[in-house]
Amino acid sequence: MWLPCGCTSKYVASSFARRTLASYLHVSGRSRCNVAAFMPEAAGLEGVSGRAALRELSVSNSESFWAAVARHRLCWSTPFHTVQDCDLSRGKIKWFEGGKLNVSVNCLDRHVHTCPERVALIWERDERGSEMKYTYGELLEMTCRLGNLLRRHGVKRGDCVTIYMPTCPLAVASMLACARIGAAHNVVFAGFSADALAERIRDGEMLLLIITVNQGVRGGKVTELKKTVDTAMQSCPTVKQVFVAMRTDNPVTMTARDIAMEEVREQKANQILEIQIQAVEGEFDVVCEPAVMNSEDVLFLLYTSGSTGKPKGLVHTQAGYLLYAALTHRYVFSYHDGDVFGCVADIGWITGHSYVVYGPLANGATTVLFESTPIYPDPGRYWDMVERLKINQFYGAPTAIRLLLKYGDQWVNKYDRSTLKTLGSVGEPINTEAWEWYHRVVGDGRCPVVDTWWQTETGGICIAPRPSDPDAEIVPGMAMRPFFGINPVLMDTEGEVLTSNNTSGALCMAQPWPGMARTIHNNHQRFIDTYFQPYPGYFFTGDGAYRSEEGYYQITGRLDDVINVSGHRIGTAEIEDVVCPAVAESAVVGYTHSIKGQGVYAFVVLKKGIDVQEADLSRQLNGMVSEKIAKYASPDFIQFAKRLPKTRSGKIMRRVLRKVVESDLEGLGDLSTLDDPAAVQEIIQDLCLCM
Ligand code: PRX
Repeated sequence: MWLPCGCTSKYVASSFARRTLASYLHVSGRSRCNVAAFMPEAAGLEGVSGRAALRELSVSNSESFWAAVARHRLCWSTPFHTVQDCDLSRGKIKWFEGGKLNVSVNCLDRHVHTCPERVALIWERDERGSEMKYTYGELLEMTCRLGNLLRRHGVKRGDCVTIYMPTCPLAVASMLACARIGAAHNVVFAGFSADALAERIRDGEMLLLIITVNQGVRGGKVTELKKTVDTAMQSCPTVKQVFVAMRTDNPVTMTARDIAMEEVREQKANQILEIQIQAVEGEFDVVCEPAVMNSEDVLFLLYTSGSTGKPKGLVHTQAGYLLYAALTHRYVFSYHDGDVFGCVADIGWITGHSYVVYGPLANGATTVLFESTPIYPDPGRYWDMVERLKINQFYGAPTAIRLLLKYGDQWVNKYDRSTLKTLGSVGEPINTEAWEWYHRVVGDGRCPVVDTWWQTETGGICIAPRPSDPDAEIVPGMAMRPFFGINPVLMDTEGEVLTSNNTSGALCMAQPWPGMARTIHNNHQRFIDTYFQPYPGYFFTGDGAYRSEEGYYQITGRLDDVINVSGHRIGTAEIEDVVCPAVAESAVVGYTHSIKGQGVYAFVVLKKGIDVQEADLSRQLNGMVSEKIAKYASPDFIQFAKRLPKTRSGKIMRRVLRKVVESDLEGLGDLSTLDDPAAVQEIIQDLCLCM
């Protein structure tokens, strides 16, 4: 049931929310900040007229810009004294030092204070038509109960809690509960295997406990999340407790380590949804005093793939991350107060963190939690949801758009999409055909399509067609313009900045911004080596880009050994590591896939003297990758080769293999450094047989 702001219901704005907020805020009047106000109203930005001028100022005088925006957009318990203290050459990034705040207060209490009945979350459950709505008041209450539960079980400020859950209100409340009590969260995508989960838990190290559900439900299929956790626990002896919530009615085996976290009882009476959350050990007071956090305290770790080694736990901190997520959410999507924001990403990825949870909630938006798939129960699922939930901004991945395009326009046209105002795309390049279809069919040719480029490392959107003036041109398939405070440059192979337009190079950032990651957990040297050492003084994104004659940016793809499968980033070395024990050698590369964007192509060389059916081994290798990483990382093709093309010094020439699988034989380039060029010919011949 939709409860517009101001109406009364069973839930009455908690006096607690008012109490904590008033006592929390440095200046009491700040709690009534008008979140709809356009930025120049922020003290310090008066007189800057128009977005072009604002953008100019955000780069030329970034300290003034970010200081004004941070004061205007966030509620602080103590104001910051230093806007930034950054040195990109050393990977040192600090924003808003001296400032103290609590992220959950910024995402919940201040909205409960002004508008408790506004819907915060709409949970679009896998079962179509069974969506559930939670007001800001209810979400605050759930967060406080969970915060108290965590505290009672010994979680302290600075600890880390792993969350292994599908996208659901309890997962959001768990993230916010961690933020409330000053613990960091480490959300692990619920599609990851037990091994991948265990690896992320062990690396997190300052962990105490895990929050999960008995089973996940997606696309009509049940996944045994609790069982996966049980398997992961076998190699995580330091985990003390596992909290288990119930997503389905099916009981699961509980061990001495497990605690049934809550009972969520749903009752529908007179269309009013009553939600009771009761901790098994008894009722808790709904007051959960927010921890007063420093701007640079850790908010969360999120693991992502790199080109070498194991996945890295990128660290994001409190104030800068929240500010950047909120600002980009507002301006890239032209979000206005009262809009329903529908980002269909899973909370296990950075898109879910920034544009399902933190950005929208900091802006007081109604945000959709999408638990299903684009084609369940049929290919009309997204658009049916848009009609039912009256979604104003829809944000999704090109891989899903490409898939839906193939099912035809009728699945879109069946539904009323008149509420849509902006369409967003994220995670991988959107090809022109998909862009045009998204714009013409889904958006009826009237909604701007914003292709947004960013990364786990950047915390929020860095390049997107908006926020330029709303009427400014948008070129299909181009991310186009840097966001406020973002200063992109392209580098040539010599490490020199390319100053002209109509040119391509390595995409770097010349200035820090508040949303960027601060380090890699437990490995600051890797952080420096990966992002700041390739082009000293600049942040290196790992992507290549083209800058058009007009100065617009188009992302051309990764420059390293990272591939992007259905918007999921995976290091080819990670797959090779899994495959290698069963074979003599392997080399994994990406190839263009019509739906997934990129697919996984593995070349393997068998161990000498091994007699095995290739089909059997392929099945085995695929199973190993699913089990050790996740299903999406499984190779689409496995080619058995006698040998791999190598340099004389023994390095596998992946560059050549990439060209071969793209059938770009003209582009093979210089093969003179190869030990034996005949190896390439052999591979090409077998490739024809298997593709
Ligand atoms: O290669 C770029 C691609 O996705 C990478 C970042 O992946 P991840 O950290 O998982 O974050 C995904 C969601 C932000 C980038 O280095 N990428 C992301 N957005 C785009 C993109 N490639 C082209 N166009 C985009 N809009």
